[in-house]
Amino acid sequence: MPAQKSNRGKGSPKKKTTSPQSVIPSADEAILQKSSPHSVIPSAEEALPPAPPPVPTVSPLSIEEINPLVKSAQYAVRGRLLDVAKSLEDKLASGETLPFTNIVRCNIGNPQALGQRPLTFVRQTLSLLLNPGLRDAPEIDISAIYPADVLERAASYAGAVPSVGAYSDSQGIRIVREHVAEFIGARDGCPASADDIFLTDGASAGVKALMTMLLRGPQDAVLCPIPQYPLYSATTTLLNATLAGYYLDESNAWGITEDALLQAVEQARAGGATPRALVVINPGNPTGQSLPKESVEMILRFAAKHKLVLMADEVYQENVYGDAPPFYSFKKALSALRECGAAGDAEAAEQAASTQLVSFHSTSKGFIGECGLRGGYFELQNVPLDVRAQLLKLMSINLCSNVVGQFATGLMVRPPVDGQPSFEKYTAEREAILQSLYSRAQRIAAELNTLPGFSCNAAEGAMYLFPSVALTTPMMEAAAAAGMAADEWYCIQLLEATGLVVVPGSGFGQKEGTFHFRTTFLPPEDAITEVLAKLKDFQAGFMQSWATQGDDELALVA
Ligand SMILES: Cc1ncc(COP(=O)(O)O)c(C=O)c1O
Repeated sequence: MPAQKSNRGKGSPKKKTTSPQSVIPSADEAILQKSSPHSVIPSAEEALPPAPPPVPTVSPLSIEEINPLVKSAQYAVRGRLLDVAKSLEDKLASGETLPFTNIVRCNIGNPQALGQRPLTFVRQTLSLLLNPGLRDAPEIDISAIYPADVLERAASYAGAVPSVGAYSDSQGIRIVREHVAEFIGARDGCPASADDIFLTDGASAGVKALMTMLLRGPQDAVLCPIPQYPLYSATTTLLNATLAGYYLDESNAWGITEDALLQAVEQARAGGATPRALVVINPGNPTGQSLPKESVEMILRFAAKHKLVLMADEVYQENVYGDAPPFYSFKKALSALRECGAAGDAEAAEQAASTQLVSFHSTSKGFIGECGLRGGYFELQNVPLDVRAQLLKLMSINLCSNVVGQFATGLMVRPPVDGQPSFEKYTAEREAILQSLYSRAQRIAAELNTLPGFSCNAAEGAMYLFPSVALTTPMMEAAAAAGMAADEWYCIQLLEATGLVVVPGSGFGQKEGTFHFRTTFLPPEDAITEVLAKLKDFQAGFMQSWATQGDDELALVA
């Protein structure tokens, strides 16, 4: 058409070509991008071609030039303490004498790195999946090596994919998603659907995908516990969004109160951000609490009332110990709300229909402890189809989560049952791991509570203790002089004296003026005995030497 033709080349906006490959905008497109979405006719000034950017003098992959958000992101679980540990390990290897003979890594929940053995059923099945030669070789009597239920599972999983070496569907292998849905249904006593399940490389990949979907920039806030596992704060930083922390109540078993949640909402709003998601880690990391049913219900209703996507990190759901409140999933709470709604409670019905819930689980924790296999899933509730399609596209940019991890997830959620040949061994292995974790948790907490300046809540769940440590003003001054946070300074001294690697509380967030560290209770019993004895000596000597520094008044005893 002539009118359109005459517009070309005269600086008026051209219809943008939508090829997804086009990266460098044309001059016209650049003008369009610069102008406000409402302005149609560029001013004369805007119509001038923009000056080309100067040619950079440093490489793009230099520390000044890389994405500043990456530099700002913090992940203390693998922070400075590990560098010190590595240099101490090198010294030991070169024959230097230190106050200890080996480094004990209690900085990370990595059970098999600290001697936990993998479950036989899981590894037998995976070994068959990875080695089709073993399955197919006529000369091998495979039933003499593997129990029938292992053979059966390996055959059914192998039949679901062309090969474990082939990409799978981006959402995850159907049969595994069906097994996950059956597991959730049995756990919660309410239906679950394979269509709501996405299989992921550990829970981390799922969390990152969801946060990428949700957080558009600084105007969006995510409510996170303080202290919290730093995946959430680091991802919020990477996405240039706003973190609004809510404090866990240390004096009440690290519980969650509605007041604390409300304060975080108000703080985010006062700062100009809209809260869009609420992260809850239950059982907690680093704090180890298992939330009672009433708290879970309160949090769900809070999310409903404030229109927050509830991100339920439930990766420690199998790790609940002793008399602690049993694990109660957010999905179960949502189902209970649905039932109230169906029984005539109109508010419950509205909340149950509108509350968006994403629940995460992982093969890394529990008693399976397969961190390196990178398996996990998330389940969506009340998320519309068009958003799911976008999420699937986002996941498909990574093609698929690793297939061995997907099968490991299937094996986690569908263990052998009573009557099957692997059942007894599986049960014995599971009980031994969980029982041992519980007894190590109790033992370390009890011991820590005898130390001067220490106060430690029991671990109700997960794999961590998070004791508070009293630090005096001179200690804080010494830390500041060394250019470190006070708790990091303390943890480095602890490491240098005992070989124990822990993570300073500041890496997870903590109330101003309080100091903590996180330790796992994963090392084997004999390593724990040795470390506790060293810790006891260290702390006694440490407190005594600093008590003579003129200020023995404790900054805090929680
Ligand atoms: C609370 C919590 N969520 C998520 C993760 C991520 O674990 P993964 O990606 O191995 O499943 C961890 C790991 O320690 C964790 O503690």
